[in-house]
Amino acid sequence: MHPTLQWIDQSAASNGLGLLRMIDQTLLPTEFREIDCETVEQVWEAIKMLRVRGAPAIGVAAAYGVVVGLLSSRESEASEFNRRLVEVTEYFATSRPTAVNLFWALDRMREVAASCGDADSESIWQRLLAEAKAIELEDREMCAAIGRHGAELLQDGTGVLTHCNAGGLATAGDGTALSVIFAAAAQGKQLQVYADETRPLLQGARLTAWELQQRDIPVTVICDNMAGWVMKERRVQAIVTGADRIAANGDAANKIGTYSVALLARAHGIPFYVAAPSSTFDMSLATGEDIPIEERKPEEITHGFGKQTAPEGVNTYNPAFDVAPADHIAAIVTERGLISPVTSENVRKVLSPS
Ligand code: MRU
Repeated sequence: MHPTLQWIDQSAASNGLGLLRMIDQTLLPTEFREIDCETVEQVWEAIKMLRVRGAPAIGVAAAYGVVVGLLSSRESEASEFNRRLVEVTEYFATSRPTAVNLFWALDRMREVAASCGDADSESIWQRLLAEAKAIELEDREMCAAIGRHGAELLQDGTGVLTHCNAGGLATAGDGTALSVIFAAAAQGKQLQVYADETRPLLQGARLTAWELQQRDIPVTVICDNMAGWVMKERRVQAIVTGADRIAANGDAANKIGTYSVALLARAHGIPFYVAAPSSTFDMSLATGEDIPIEERKPEEITHGFGKQTAPEGVNTYNPAFDVAPADHIAAIVTERGLISPVTSENVRKVLSPS
């Protein structure tokens, strides 16, 4: 698959310095276009407006965003370079609050800079670029490992429901939930995927359906409010979603609507799986209660994709995420293996085995 985002080195970049290139996901599926981000404001805007989205991809974008933000400080005094580093990382932290991968990547970038001692700014910048590339590479490897561990959960002939987009577009690799599906399909299993369209921004209909079509995996788009009936009709035998932040007890925040899907799955006796890398866990939060939930602007509900669909001035409430309770999750698929049953103890065992 075409890379969701990639660093363009000095020699190939139009600005002669280096830039971050990414697929503009707001245009899919009708237009495939890449955008080049040469300023920190452009990367911030791309994250905020969901041109790049999905927890792992947001982390990778923010890491490269730090590199972009320090391009013009490479010849500065160390104190000025460090001042700018703080400014840029604090700025990215204001872009989107829920996906912890963003903060995890920013922390890694700050730690790398701090470990450089009294190196000159150019050397620190080179170390930051190397760290961003490492974050990207590790993400690709984590996706592949999630696929390997998760494929065993899906039998031949399974109908699988997924919500939002947790595919290649949401990561630097093959995705998390979709990586499980891709890996099972690669083993020769015939799968039928049901993609919730995922109101209000339609990541399921626009992005998941597009990705699955690209890979020749049968996909059927349904409106979000059809998920319960699809389960009742026994069209799906498993549900797999991604996550944006998972608390220490396994409560998992994901795109709004995931909570309902988890409850519906329990009501119908269908296993609900979450696929996510270790970078999506926030062990500082005991439960999902404290996960910050992003609230987005009313127009996403009232004027979706340019068409007014609600009366002028009507009240709206637009939380972008919700939290699936740990006891509703049959297993969390990580790059280190499966967490099941989902308890604080098992989360700890898989994430920090020593
Ligand atoms: O608002 P988005 O599109 O960034 O939300 C994305 C999701 O909720 C994904 O399911 C999640 O980030 C996992 S991506 C591997």
